[in-house]
Amino acid sequence: MNIAVFASHGGSDLQAIIDGCKSNKINAEVVAVISNNGDSMALRRALNEGVPAYYLSAKKFGSEETLAKEILAVLTTHKVDMIFLAGYMRMLHITVLEKYNNRIFNIHPALLPKFGGKGMYGMNVHTAVIEAKEKETGVTIHRVNAEYDSGEIVAQTKVPVLENDTPEILAARVLEREHSFLVEVLSDISDGKISLG
Ligand code: GRF
Repeated sequence: MNIAVFASHGGSDLQAIIDGCKSNKINAEVVAVISNNGDSMALRRALNEGVPAYYLSAKKFGSEETLAKEILAVLTTHKVDMIFLAGYMRMLHITVLEKYNNRIFNIHPALLPKFGGKGMYGMNVHTAVIEAKEKETGVTIHRVNAEYDSGEIVAQTKVPVLENDTPEILAARVLEREHSFLVEVLSDISDGKISLG
């Protein structure tokens, strides 16, 4: 199974996926990394690992339509079977969503459907979890559709919220769990236990 990972910033989830594939825990290969941020650590991680890395953004190409065509061309070139959004800060164009229907997944750092939707990303999520006095949060992996964080949930795991947690401390605990959970769930996807539709 050929995976394309889309990421905008740090790429620690991307790294966990690449490492999981290299150690054969995930029966797949990351064949391309796409970022809308030319300076992202995610692109540098891809280059370090010898994975083809692409900076593709609407700003660079002048329109969302052209960006979508460029993205689809990269996906075709690398015979991509599945797309994983690991901290990708953009909505995908409808042409990409349709072509890869059921085959696009996102990771979200909370227990959806709680703490999801537009504006619920990064530290905003963890701040909201703490303000709501939740005793537990977690990680959700879901299919991607045309609305933020609302596609079918394929896997979830819980992470405790501790009494003196700051958003930063909680974010670090959740991110650490993301790295192992990604390997578990992508292993299930690559083995066909979670279907690609
Ligand atoms: C993760 O918290 C993930 O849940 C969210 O974006 C973050 C990505 O972190 N979608 P990193 O860039 O992989 O370190």
